[in-house]
Amino acid sequence: MSQNIRKLDVKVPAVAESAYAITIGRGMLGRLWGQIRDRWPALNPFIVTDAELVKAGHLKTLLGNESVPSFVIEPAGEVSKHIQTVVAIVEEMEKNILGRDSIVVSLGGGTVGDIAGFAAAIFKRGVPVIQIPTTTVSQADSSVGGKTGVDSSVSKNAFGAFWQPEAVYIDVETLMTLDDRQYRAGLVESVKHAAIRDKDYFEFFETNINAILDKDMAVLEKIAYTNCRIKAEVVAEDPTEKNLRRILNYGHTIGHAVESASGFELLHGESVGIGMIAAGKIEQRLGLVADNRLERIKELLLKLGMPTTIPTALDKQRLIELLRKDKKAVGSWPRFILLESLGTTFCKEGQWAHEVSQDTVEKCLDELYE
Ligand code: GLY
Repeated sequence: MSQNIRKLDVKVPAVAESAYAITIGRGMLGRLWGQIRDRWPALNPFIVTDAELVKAGHLKTLLGNESVPSFVIEPAGEVSKHIQTVVAIVEEMEKNILGRDSIVVSLGGGTVGDIAGFAAAIFKRGVPVIQIPTTTVSQADSSVGGKTGVDSSVSKNAFGAFWQPEAVYIDVETLMTLDDRQYRAGLVESVKHAAIRDKDYFEFFETNINAILDKDMAVLEKIAYTNCRIKAEVVAEDPTEKNLRRILNYGHTIGHAVESASGFELLHGESVGIGMIAAGKIEQRLGLVADNRLERIKELLLKLGMPTTIPTALDKQRLIELLRKDKKAVGSWPRFILLESLGTTFCKEGQWAHEVSQDTVEKCLDELYE
């Protein structure tokens, strides 16, 4: 019997270019709800936040006395960043008879933003999301750029989607109630931006470290603006991380492994700081270093109160195993983002992520144990 194979081409119109505004200020949370209502009058809002944000009073500040369907993630933090939370959010939206004319409003840190963004991406095949980040991590990094997702039992962010927000509102005053350890650790994403793209910004951090640790709001506004400028430049050029956007993973490859191996005892920023030192050790071993950048990065991390060594309790073989499972691994081994100098990322033959042998990585890890 002859097989009659026929083929058709499906032409999908180019996805329209989209843009969204990031609004940065202080003390604007209490005025935001009216603006959101005015700007999206036809959409039904659904809020996703977490128990810590409710406790800190931020949900009340946002809504005043208005009652809006919402989901409070409990417990707050990475332990809730799994698919069951997303299922619960979607079902809560359904119970509130929300349809495709809804808009998810994410109020919280990186975990809330990642979960809420992913729920928005999959609810009824996708509804818009507004990000209102309230932590140093989420204001610097996760609220901008459209990465959303949750962890599987095997690895971080195994479920995910690129889902750009409709708008981002950054109120640096929300950082005033943030726990000090979280506050400091989140600043590592800002140090990352400085290290990969902007030496002047790195020097601003060095010079203003006391004002930063004192939560000077004018300084925090400048930091929020600079982070978003750097991230927006990178994401605009490579929204789905084909090449350039990988530079935002500087410190994250080993950082994610350390974070997971610690059972999330180490915070994301603390782990990324260790990953940045590890990247510096790799640069040294590969002969890419002719300056004192590693010392400067390490000193800045120490001033932020970050660990700069790997706790002995974290087994090296476990780290290697996690590196093999990294979602960006090619042939079961990840590529690494390295610096060329302070403020410039190393690029070779147009590629920003580089092959580094397992042996080299293991030697660098050995040097990093306490
Ligand atoms: N956090 C890295 C990125 O958004 O690509």
